[in-house]
Amino acid sequence: MMKFSIILVCVVIGLGFSSPADADDSVVRGKCMTCHKEISPGLYNQWFGSRHAKHDVTCYDCHGAERGEADAYLHEGTYIATLVTPRDCGECHTQEMNEFVPAHRAKAGHILESADAYMAHAVAGDPAAVAGCESCHGSKIKIDPNSPNKLLRGKSWPNSGIGRINPDGTLGACNSCHLRHEFSRSQARQPETCGKCHLGPDHPQKEIYEESKHGIVYYTNLDKMNLDADRWVVGQDYYAAPTCATCHLSATRKQPVTHDAGERISWTLRPPVSKQQDNWEKKRANMQDVCSACHGPVWVKGHYEQFDGVVNLYNEKFAKPAGEVMTILKKNQTLKNPAEYSNDIEWIYWELWHHEGRRARHGASMMGPDYTWWHGLYEVGKHFYFEFLPAVRETGDAEAIAYIDQLMTEPFHRWMNQPTDEIKKQIRSGDMQKLYEHLYRTEPGTK
Ligand code: HEC
Ligand code: HEC
Ligand code: HEC
Ligand code: HEC
Ligand code: HEC
Ligand code: HEC
Ligand code: HEC
Ligand code: HEC
Repeated sequence: MMKFSIILVCVVIGLGFSSPADADDSVVRGKCMTCHKEISPGLYNQWFGSRHAKHDVTCYDCHGAERGEADAYLHEGTYIATLVTPRDCGECHTQEMNEFVPAHRAKAGHILESADAYMAHAVAGDPAAVAGCESCHGSKIKIDPNSPNKLLRGKSWPNSGIGRINPDGTLGACNSCHLRHEFSRSQARQPETCGKCHLGPDHPQKEIYEESKHGIVYYTNLDKMNLDADRWVVGQDYYAAPTCATCHLSATRKQPVTHDAGERISWTLRPPVSKQQDNWEKKRANMQDVCSACHGPVWVKGHYEQFDGVVNLYNEKFAKPAGEVMTILKKNQTLKNPAEYSNDIEWIYWELWHHEGRRARHGASMMGPDYTWWHGLYEVGKHFYFEFLPAVRETGDAEAIAYIDQLMTEPFHRWMNQPTDEIKKQIRSGDMQKLYEHLYRTEPGTK
């Protein structure tokens, strides 16, 4: 009766509900579903089949808003917001929000100032960055005070990028992984979820996973993955194969689910020269704990030795010298055109580390041999010796040329100036092996 009269008053004075407290009422909540079942039946049915619907989490629980919030607007008699940010989900899932949002803090801003961003804008143009970069990384959401739903300039929304900058100050979109309106964890546990962003020439994690033995055992054992289980502890609740989520986010016998994808990563394979992460020993131990559900310690340590070997080889043999040469050319202002990326040498260098060098490192990290070699170090070697160095010589920069001449006498590179027979002999005699021994250090970044 009480509730009924509140509604009556509001309807009579024609203001509608102005705060969630008033609207926290089954009639209002019910109206959302009744009407949207007709207006947008696909959306309604996605929600209706979800765990949220079964627990009576309704449209208004996520879309309800306070009058005065930046994105709030009046809709059918009550304030709602179309945006549902990590803070809105965090009302009920505080821990997931607190792990996820800070994990992307540094990186979301970083891309705006990155070489990638400059390149997208200079070489292509704004729409390329909006529909390309920002769809994966996240846009800065813009509120349009004059639009009926306060939102959402096409330029900044639709968007569900991982580091989206929301008007309430939070970063990201939970539906980058939990697609609406089902928001299921079983979907997020599957590699397709990550494959919207983690693929392509510069970070082909999806492709690497598919070609790895882990991907093979996964795709040939889908029915054994127990993906719908509440508890999903690797080795106990499922054991056929690890997915991306298994290794990076899901629970082990020792670790709970985490929403910080950096917790188990010891290197960063993204920059021109790979570096160790802060606190890398702990992070490496976290990942090795995942492996230990299915492998013995010698196998796991062996994998890291091979992985470190590739990263150190790439760093020492190619990345550091190439970076050094670029520094010399820039210092001496030898390049033809003043603007960055207006000289072909800059593109060769860019692809060397950003595409080919990353592919090699990513392939080695996740057991994708075709990426480690054919798409990776094979391309790095070919382009370093037969595109990059010749292009540097062509600039005529005396300091850079002297640097290369010296480099070519060093153990990694002097094969170029030796007879084949001699090189073969060195390989057979194990002399070359000694040269590589120090690369298998299993300690990222330390010399
Ligand atoms: C009487 C029918 C009706 C009711 C009740 C209703 N809606 Fe809507 N809603 C619509 C229609 C129609 C649209 C399409 C956009 C428009 O015309 O405003 C819409 C659009 C929306 C949008 C998207 C707006 C955009 O920016 O794209 C959201 C979110 C939404 N409704 C949520 C809700 C919630 C939450 C409730 C309950 C508080 C609710 N609706 C109640 C009819 C309704
Ligand atoms: C668990 C939270 C949750 C619930 C429950 C929920 N939504 Fe949403 N909804 C979202 C999220 C997240 C988005 C994406 C918004 C964004 O980009 O921030 C969204 C987007 C939308 C959109 C705009 C996007 C589009 O595809 O046009 C509409 C309309 C909408 N929801 C309507 C509804 C309706 C109607 C219900 C109830 C049947 C509902 N939602 C229930 C979280 C929820
Ligand atoms: C009003 C509280 C509430 C809000 C807001 C809410 N949830 Fe939930 N969520 C729940 C409840 C209750 C469950 C079911 C109990 C459980 O499984 O923990 C649940 C379950 C889930 C699950 C597991 C579902 C499954 O099928 O495995 C995911 C994932 C999830 N929520 C994500 C989200 C996201 C993302 C948002 C924001 C877009 C959100 N939730 C907003 C209360 C909420
Ligand atoms: C298909 C999705 C996608 C697109 C499109 C995309 N990126 Fe990325 N980007 C990623 C992913 C995923 C990573 C992380 C890769 C990894 O960790 O190996 C990343 C990494 C980066 C990094 C390194 C961040 C760091 O912390 O070191 C920068 C900078 C960046 N991207 C900028 C851009 C810019 C600018 C564009 C557009 C010109 C762009 N990206 C286009 C998905 C994308
Ligand atoms: C990078 C992808 C990703 C993003 C982004 C993401 N999640 Fe998850 N989430 C997962 C995965 C994977 C699982 C399943 C973990 C498991 O049980 O194995 C999960 C599980 C959950 C669960 C179920 C509880 C549990 O411990 O299994 C909830 C609730 C949830 N997420 C909420 C959120 C919220 C809220 C956000 C935004 C703040 C969010 N997620 C963002 C990947 C993601
Ligand atoms: C068997 C476990 C395993 C699986 C499955 C797996 N990864 Fe990884 N991933 C790793 C390891 C190990 C590393 C390197 C960790 C380190 O640096 O110590 C890594 C590194 C990464 C990185 C960091 C790359 C960088 O540039 O620094 C990303 C991003 C990533 N994985 C994404 C994914 C995605 C997406 C999938 C699924 C398509 C996936 N992983 C599947 C184990 C796994
Ligand atoms: C919407 C795009 C998107 C999706 C979907 C996505 N990621 Fe990412 N991920 C990124 C970007 C961009 C980065 C690097 C910059 C950042 O963290 O903002 C990243 C970083 C990572 C890292 C490296 C973290 C670190 O600190 O080095 C891992 C590991 C990772 N993601 C795993 C996953 C897994 C596993 C999934 C699927 C469950 C997934 N991601 C889904 C875009 C995405
Ligand atoms: C859920 C179980 C499971 C987990 C967790 C797991 N693996 Fe595996 N792994 C397998 C299976 C199954 C194979 C295939 C074995 C075979 O070749 O017969 C495999 C194969 C491998 C291979 C061999 C690749 C090849 O091409 O021969 C390596 C290396 C490896 N795993 C390392 C790891 C590392 C490192 C981790 C942790 C980051 C890990 N695995 C986590 C199940 C797992």
